[in-house]
Amino acid sequence: MSSLRLEVASGASAGRVFDAELDIVRIGRAPQNELVLSDALISSEHARIVSSADGFVLEDLGSTNGTWLLRAGEQHVLGEGRRAIALSPGDRLLLGGPEADGIELRVEFGPDTDTLEIALVRPLSELGKNAPLAAGDDRLQSLVQALREVVSHEGLSEVARGIADASLLLVPRATHATVVLRQEPESAQSNASGKSVGFVPVVTRVRGPSGPRAPEAAVRVTRSIVRKVISERAAVLAADAPSEAFSSESLLGASIRSTIGVPLWKDEAILGVLQLDNRDAPAMFEARDVDALGVLAVSASLAIANAELIQRLSLARAELKKENQYLRGRERARSAEVRIIGKSKAMAELFLQQLDKVADTRVSVLIEGETGVGKELVASSVHYRSKRKDKLFVAQNCAAFPENLLESELFGHKRGAFTGATDEKKGLFEIADGGTLFLDELGELPLSLQAKLLRALQEGEVRPIGATQSKQVNVRIVAATNKNLETEVKAGRFREDLYYRLKVFPLRVPPLRERRDDIAPLAVFFLDRYTREMGKSILGFAQETLEILSAYDFPGNVRELENEVQRLVIQADDGAFLTPELLSPRVRQIETVLLSAGAAKGSLKDMVDQVERHILIEALREHGNNKTAAAKTLGITREGLHKKLKQLGVG
Ligand SMILES: Nc1ncnc2c1ncn2[C@@H]1O[C@H](COP(=O)(O)OP(=O)(O)OP(=O)(O)O)[C@@H](O)[C@H]1O
Ligand SMILES: [Mg+2]
Repeated sequence: MSSLRLEVASGASAGRVFDAELDIVRIGRAPQNELVLSDALISSEHARIVSSADGFVLEDLGSTNGTWLLRAGEQHVLGEGRRAIALSPGDRLLLGGPEADGIELRVEFGPDTDTLEIALVRPLSELGKNAPLAAGDDRLQSLVQALREVVSHEGLSEVARGIADASLLLVPRATHATVVLRQEPESAQSNASGKSVGFVPVVTRVRGPSGPRAPEAAVRVTRSIVRKVISERAAVLAADAPSEAFSSESLLGASIRSTIGVPLWKDEAILGVLQLDNRDAPAMFEARDVDALGVLAVSASLAIANAELIQRLSLARAELKKENQYLRGRERARSAEVRIIGKSKAMAELFLQQLDKVADTRVSVLIEGETGVGKELVASSVHYRSKRKDKLFVAQNCAAFPENLLESELFGHKRGAFTGATDEKKGLFEIADGGTLFLDELGELPLSLQAKLLRALQEGEVRPIGATQSKQVNVRIVAATNKNLETEVKAGRFREDLYYRLKVFPLRVPPLRERRDDIAPLAVFFLDRYTREMGKSILGFAQETLEILSAYDFPGNVRELENEVQRLVIQADDGAFLTPELLSPRVRQIETVLLSAGAAKGSLKDMVDQVERHILIEALREHGNNKTAAAKTLGITREGLHKKLKQLGVG
């Protein structure tokens, strides 16, 4: 197996030489590519080169401007019909346009790694059999300790770290240890072609003064050794590469004196490679280091295989649990759907004129409204009134996670996509495929994810973090926000293009104070729900209680009303009516004011004056006659307060 070198011959990065260290080299404008080309002609994820048993294969990733390959005077186009082509040394790649239009990359292959000074090869079948250990040997002690380290962990990433630490313990000359694990193929299709199985480094540990620690900077792995271990199915010890030959740059660049690669395996499959380097000392690894690691590898392989199995199981269980949750939520939402209370004109309009029309289309829906007005309820109703109702309705609150976690929640990730991503995870877009994805608090979506969401909306495809291929998904987006997105757009916090894309069908759920007719029916509905839930028998609302409720402004909208009724039910005695004094002071405010102001009947002005006077006196009393503070609560200036007091003859 040779190594791959790409030389950028034109464009912004002309002159750059890139040596492939991973089995997959992604090329594009986006920063997560291994080879980043910032030229405008290049798509954010333009192409990739995958190394497989049969060599290096170039694939176009559906780039906008295309990929060409020049070989022996012939030009091959990648695009529709043909997406991949095997590379040969001397090939010239043109990305973003044919001939002089494109960015040119020159392909070179390094020599076979066999020309590395391989000092020792121990076939897998011999590993663990010739441990060079005698009783009394210091190593026996280290080995026992190392094995204990390996078996004392559970999660895959901890096991991998444990193996790296154990190997440093076992081989005192080693300065760096890296565990590389097999990446699962992305789809059945790519699996069949065998091209997408790659190996990714999941953990590196370095020797520190007080034991193994994480490296301060990224550590390059020696791909040639990893490859050799995989192709030979053997542990390999290699020394300084011959310096006159063009060999894998990672060996030379990292000035490694010697390196050992040991396979981790289960049955016929190579699960990963443990690689040890000696980067400081001139001392050379020895055969007995390989043999000691061979003993470790037997247990380490088992531990990895078990951890992978456990992870797959718990992943499956988590997915089941998630699905279950959605199913339960769906049932709840289904029954709740019939129970969207709202006979007011404003709600009837929302339902009859807007919701019914949009429900069965595929357009995105943007639900706007204050907190607690029922946005989520309306969102689920859009879903359950559509043909998608038998598929999942999946909700995600965009404010619930930091950016990177949210991205992986929504779009999923591949193994090794970031630290801690030890296994693959399905994103909600995939889970909701065929159904509806509800993005709550959309105004909180970070800008970078807004770009990804836009792409998902426009092209119907998503790309998990760390994946090289996009997946087609058919998901309807319903989003909700209690922020004014137009203001967010103006402030540069929300992408304008995304805003217009989502705004195709805006639904505004009016606040409760704009539909007071709904308050009483909602109160009765919640009373019914909570008396049943708490097993109480309450006769109902006293008429006056309903009147006070209907007059209140409910800044927290339906949710506040629901909480108020729930509280009433808890407090009320069985067999009684719900009378006004049970209401919370906040809701009763208006009644209190009227009563305690002792508003005598008279002209409107007199009554208003009395109430106003009462409010001012109350505010002053509350703040111990501090006028500045009282004015502040009342939302007027201190001067304004003075004027009022004078007018009303107070103080
Ligand atoms: N019209 C309605 N009929 C019955 N229940 C309702 C209605 N509107 C809202 N609710 C109930 O009020 C509560 C709040 O509703 P919901 O969670 O949908 O509001 P929201 O607008 O999403 O709130 P937030 O802005 O805080 O996310 C829920 O328990 C919901 O079931
Ligand atoms: Mg909500």
